Amino acid sequence: MKINGKAVPWLFGESILDAANRAGVFIPSLCCDSTFLNKDSCCRLCIVQVKMGDKVSLMPACATETEAEMEINTDSESIHRIRKMLLQLIYAEAPENPTIMELMKKCGVKPDTRISNKGGRDCVLCRRCINACHYWVKGAIESMGRGVTKRIDTPYGKPTEDCLGCASCELICPIHSIKSEDYNGKRKIWNNEFELLYCEECGALITTKENFFDGNYDDAPILCHTCSEEYRKGHRKNEELYCY
Ligand code: SF4
Ligand code: SF4
Ligand code: FES
Repeated sequence: MKINGKAVPWLFGESILDAANRAGVFIPSLCCDSTFLNKDSCCRLCIVQVKMGDKVSLMPACATETEAEMEINTDSESIHRIRKMLLQLIYAEAPENPTIMELMKKCGVKPDTRISNKGGRDCVLCRRCINACHYWVKGAIESMGRGVTKRIDTPYGKPTEDCLGCASCELICPIHSIKSEDYNGKRKIWNNEFELLYCEECGALITTKENFFDGNYDDAPILCHTCSEEYRKGHRKNEELYCY
């Protein structure tokens, strides 16, 4: 497989994006995460030109598996033109967002002031948060509404028992658009409030009660990952304990 005329090592089943990253070739990306099995390819920022025999196509690098005979171009005029247009549209969805501004700088793209943020949302609808929740938790959030009112939310914008308040969606959002609030032992996120759990040994914040037990609760000690490791190594290793 070649990228920009140079042979690069690749692994069977990996994406062009992963192979390019390993070879030190920059391809901008926003929506993908190598953990998830389903890749929606929402942002299309990672688009590259792929030549196989006589056929040349534009493919999302994050969702296209490598093949030996591929000749990939990440640096053509048309790729730069597409990236510029996509980045300007993405910028309009989340103006002044540091992650997007950094990506634009890396790609040498400036904002187009003629494109405005009609929806006023600070979200580029990349679906990473949705995929994270489906993959790790229960699929509590989805894309709601249409056009300029499209947004990520719980069904009808109401509290849902599928949300455990874990904040995985917040951590994985590439532009830090989801913001939970932790105060007075509670976490507020997605139209709901959750009780925070702290390690009984060191006092570190673990997660929410709902996420920790997910419905099962008894009197075993509640420990963070570090303290539970210590307990496992130590004299209490046979005691029942909860850890995270
Ligand atoms: S906080 Fe709620 S919506 Fe976000 S990942 Fe956790 S369960 Fe899903
Ligand atoms: S909230 Fe963040 S992760 Fe979710 S779709 Fe919007 S930009 Fe993507
Ligand atoms: S990173 Fe590949 S489509 Fe978004």
